Amino acid sequence: MSEFFKWDKDSDGIVTLTMDAPGQSANTMNAEFTSAVAEVVERLRREREEITGVVLASAKKTFFAGGDLNDLRRITPEHADEFMATLASTKGALRGLETLGRPVVAALNGSALGGGLEIALSCHHRIALDNPKARFGFPEVTLGLLPGAGGIVRTVRMLGIADALLKLLLQGQQLRPADAQATGIVDEVISEESELIPRAKQWIKDNPEAVQPWDVKGYKIPGGTPTNPKFAANLPAFPANLRKQLKGAPMPAPKAILSAAVEGAQVDFDSALRIESRYMFSLASGQTAKNMIKAFFFDLQTINKGGSRPQGVPAYTARKVAVLGAGMMGAGIAYSCARSGMEVVLKDVSAEAAERGKNYSVGLLDKQVSRGKLTAEKRAEILARITPTADAADLAGADLVIEAVFENTELKHKVFAEIQDVVNPDALLCSNTSTLPITGLAEGVKRPEDFVGLHFFSPVDKMPLVEIIRGANTSDEALAKAFDVVLQLKKTPIVVNDSRGFFTSRVIGTFINEGVAMLGEGLPAPSIEQASTQAGYPAPVLSLMDELTLTLPRKIRDETRKAVEAAGGVWHAHPAEAVIDRMVTEFDRGGRSAGKGFYDYAEGKRAGLWPGLREHFGKGDAIIRDGDAIPFKDMQERMLFAEALETVKCVEEGVITSVADANIGSIFGIGFPPWTGGVLQYINGYPGGVAGFVARAEELAKTYGDRFSPPELLRTKAANGETFE
Ligand code: NAI
Repeated sequence: MSEFFKWDKDSDGIVTLTMDAPGQSANTMNAEFTSAVAEVVERLRREREEITGVVLASAKKTFFAGGDLNDLRRITPEHADEFMATLASTKGALRGLETLGRPVVAALNGSALGGGLEIALSCHHRIALDNPKARFGFPEVTLGLLPGAGGIVRTVRMLGIADALLKLLLQGQQLRPADAQATGIVDEVISEESELIPRAKQWIKDNPEAVQPWDVKGYKIPGGTPTNPKFAANLPAFPANLRKQLKGAPMPAPKAILSAAVEGAQVDFDSALRIESRYMFSLASGQTAKNMIKAFFFDLQTINKGGSRPQGVPAYTARKVAVLGAGMMGAGIAYSCARSGMEVVLKDVSAEAAERGKNYSVGLLDKQVSRGKLTAEKRAEILARITPTADAADLAGADLVIEAVFENTELKHKVFAEIQDVVNPDALLCSNTSTLPITGLAEGVKRPEDFVGLHFFSPVDKMPLVEIIRGANTSDEALAKAFDVVLQLKKTPIVVNDSRGFFTSRVIGTFINEGVAMLGEGLPAPSIEQASTQAGYPAPVLSLMDELTLTLPRKIRDETRKAVEAAGGVWHAHPAEAVIDRMVTEFDRGGRSAGKGFYDYAEGKRAGLWPGLREHFGKGDAIIRDGDAIPFKDMQERMLFAEALETVKCVEEGVITSVADANIGSIFGIGFPPWTGGVLQYINGYPGGVAGFVARAEELAKTYGDRFSPPELLRTKAANGETFE
């Protein structure tokens, strides 16, 4: 008998089954669970006459954590029979539980996500402890999967197709106990843990005849099914909305979920379970799920467990932060710091400018209060932590400094000189520069070992990534502290070594250049925009350049070229440069903030692509193969490959040293398409693996230029059959 379920029958005949996966910190749907659940349900059925009900509980902090992703990562098309048999066995056991003829209650002491919620939904009643950490939902879609142990079949029957899809399945929402109750997947929420099991037992006594609603004859799915003409009339809206949301990105999971829900609603329960399994297998055995599991589970876990943080440095918590510069970034940084509990002094050149910076937080918090996401007390508490000032003396006692003044080395040196003797003598000194080398900035302070780059992304309150840049003199201690600060802000840190453009700006630059280069070749701008969104990028490439402005990257490029040439190097001009130069000098179109760029703008809003693009750039020698068709795949792969190849160069040069950092940094920081699993996982998962990627890069190099030639490191990896792990 497996140790997974502890069996405890009381004098009333109620069996409490406590799930406690031996040697694991959480219960997961692994091979051991599969056999244990089959065994225990069989015993329940055998001893049914002596049993009055069942309480399903957990000995772990969470109720049940979900599927075993290590197992799921290994599924290939050859595993079809084995995979389907395992799923059928688990589903059979859960079905056996809900048709036991005795009431079964889930006592949810903590989170039930994915497989955990599927188990809970096979019970007749769910009681959740009001645990602040508890979350309920189906995050599968965010890993390119679907709930394959009856989750779709049961939620559709419980909530109706529309609510199941929108409130749970398609977005992977993770609900707090009260929200889970409001949605209908939890029946009761109680506040005392000691009451959980007694309450479950009481429910069993009160409901001896419990049966699932869908097992009652004549049960109808709420809201109707596609066989109902009224419902069927609304049905096309679902795939249409989905297409709109995904913008054509190759994400198979949402579509599979939609199909499993709609098809499953038209057949009996057991057939619906089989349909769900088929879709689950098609996702689990495909590449996208592998990519997304690698990035969003394993890589994120690597980072959250310490990732590139130097080991052996004690944990650090910042208490008082000095934010220098209350402009767009400084204001956002002050908000995030105050939100995470730090005391913030926000300094600018005048008290008014500093106050304006604080007002940014007022705006954000007010919005949350009006949406009911924050109480007025909490708002006041957060705002009270931000002190706007123009007086350096107010920075006394700060143990953390984050500088976000204008992008200018002399100015940055000056502001650090002003405050370095005011703040704590061991305060961590950070600059939010987006382009200036950290080693050079550190020369302006007395303690270069305590100086580090802390590169936030705009808008700071929404963007989850912070790029930590290690200068030549940054100490391990400073780096570790910076890492802890980012986690304290509830953001995700990646660590890179000092280099022009660091990692993120350098890589995103190649994406933008590629889009612009295509324009220069005469490819139609609307096709370029569509190619980027259909590749899964969050914003069309030319619109992104408009946001960043054409002028700033051009200025940085010119400075970089000068620096390269001054060092005796040769500058290899990118074909995009000529297009950007013409846009700025000939047509005076500097981007969104200038009111005109690749797009026209009316009242600050995008008002269509500038018609001049076709006139001035549309006559080039368009590289159009396959007859008249635009080589869409080439257009997409040029952008994806440009970023992947630049990342490999960053790895070769030691700018980035962790695969997890590269993958997560690319998705969270610069919008590399999530279905790829990140910029290095894209190479691993390319058809034919790394070797396939190298062969394709060589093809692109032949057609579009040497910049696509695979770097040595990539060729070596391909030759040795290695991947980026
Ligand atoms: P901004 O122009 O909005 O704000 C700069 C602020 O610094 C202004 O409020 C200005 O009054 C203040 N300032 C100037 N001299 C000062 C002094 N001596 N003492 C205190 N404050 C002073 O600029 P933004 O966009 O916030 O950028 C700030 C820094 O963040 C720059 O280094 C920039 O490269 C970097 N950055 C910007 C990003 C963006 O998307 N805008 C993204 C990541 C980094």
